[in-house]
Amino acid sequence: MSVVRLDHLTKVFPGGTKAVDDFSLTIADGEFLVLVGPSGCGKSTVLRMIAGLEDVTGGDVLIDGERVTDWAPKQRDIAMVFQNYALYPHMTVRDNMGFALKLQHVGKERIGEQVTSTADLLGLGGLLDRKPKALSGGQRQRVAMGRAMVRQPRVFLLDEPLSNLDAKLRVSMRAELARLHQRYRITTVYVTHDQIEAMTLGDRIAVVDKGRLQQVGTPDELYRAPANRFVAGFMGSPSMNFATVTVRRAGIRLTVDLGGRTIELPGPLAERVDLARYIGSPVVIGLRPAAFSPAGPDEEALEAVPLGVESLGDEKHVLFAPPTDGLRALADGDVPVAVDESAGTQLWTAKVGQGADVAIGRPVRLRVDLGAAYFFDPADGMAVPAPSTEPAAPAVAAA
Ligand SMILES: Nc1ncnc2c1ncn2[C@@H]1O[C@H](COP(=O)(O)OP(=O)(O)OP(=O)(O)O)[C@@H](O)[C@H]1O
Ligand SMILES: [Mg+2]
Repeated sequence: MSVVRLDHLTKVFPGGTKAVDDFSLTIADGEFLVLVGPSGCGKSTVLRMIAGLEDVTGGDVLIDGERVTDWAPKQRDIAMVFQNYALYPHMTVRDNMGFALKLQHVGKERIGEQVTSTADLLGLGGLLDRKPKALSGGQRQRVAMGRAMVRQPRVFLLDEPLSNLDAKLRVSMRAELARLHQRYRITTVYVTHDQIEAMTLGDRIAVVDKGRLQQVGTPDELYRAPANRFVAGFMGSPSMNFATVTVRRAGIRLTVDLGGRTIELPGPLAERVDLARYIGSPVVIGLRPAAFSPAGPDEEALEAVPLGVESLGDEKHVLFAPPTDGLRALADGDVPVAVDESAGTQLWTAKVGQGADVAIGRPVRLRVDLGAAYFFDPADGMAVPAPSTEPAAPAVAAA
């Protein structure tokens, strides 16, 4: 059993880069935890601190409750596979895989057994006598993993292990990894910036930005209830669309202005108390591409001019300029709101069916499912309302 606890981990590199900032997370025994985040956010540094390859500036690493922060890498019994794995070119697959065990003075026979069974599992059985240069990229990658796995470490750390492989091979290696994990249940921390990999492999996903943990949860939790705008924009492909809009009150309902129309939000005001705090002031709306669909002739709709149409086989992505109501809202003397800067530079995407009749330059009417809208505070980016980690409280009947 191996529980890994990161307790207020911080890493400041000489020169002052704060690569990891007060990072706390517990990885359960047998869990497959995926660390995701943009390039440079500190993922590899977290992994290297767990492995002991990087000194910590502050905080602690604990394995099964024991403080290992000052232990040497090899005392920690952790195996790590790097993005740019290097096999020993002059050694056969067999020797590459057995090398770590040899260093640990494990007996020859035992090494032979371990290597053979791991190789079989990874589909490398027939390749044991080859040298790396006689292997395909995917086979080399499997040898690198096999080499880390033969010693059955307490913790398995993988840093973007599939990023050098072509798309098809990535998918099959992903399935293979999932299968291996099912079988051995070694506590695993897996770094990637591919969110499909994260969603499909992770028991839980930890989203990192600028060295800070943004949110940790199951793939479903992060997708359905992102804690902030960063997580919302990071999880899901194509990304969520954002714009700053003004919330207004119309009777017992709330409305937002979008694409020159005032659209009512579903549900009465009473059920949207958190959002009601923003009445008359700007709030960031987030709409996933799937929240749009082609509108019928009489339906309330957003007019968009497709600037790009991407056909993906069974769906189409329609790219269009974000609605600019934030700017128009100035006319009626409301709080001045500019269209969100980052949204302004990024096109919106609608995901529609393959059969949808859309073409570049020809205006299209899109129905917007505001029931599926997310809202974020424009200042700190936190979700409104904040996602609850508890199951929703049962509704209390009014007395
Ligand atoms: N040895 C080092 N000395 C100084 N700065 C470093 C060092 N290693 C990493 N950094 C900086 O620390 C930050 C985090 O780097 P890290 O490699 O952990 O990012 P990452 O999330 O793994 O990125 P990527 O997805 O590109 O691999 C970056 O700003 C990087 O430039
Ligand atoms: Mg990295």
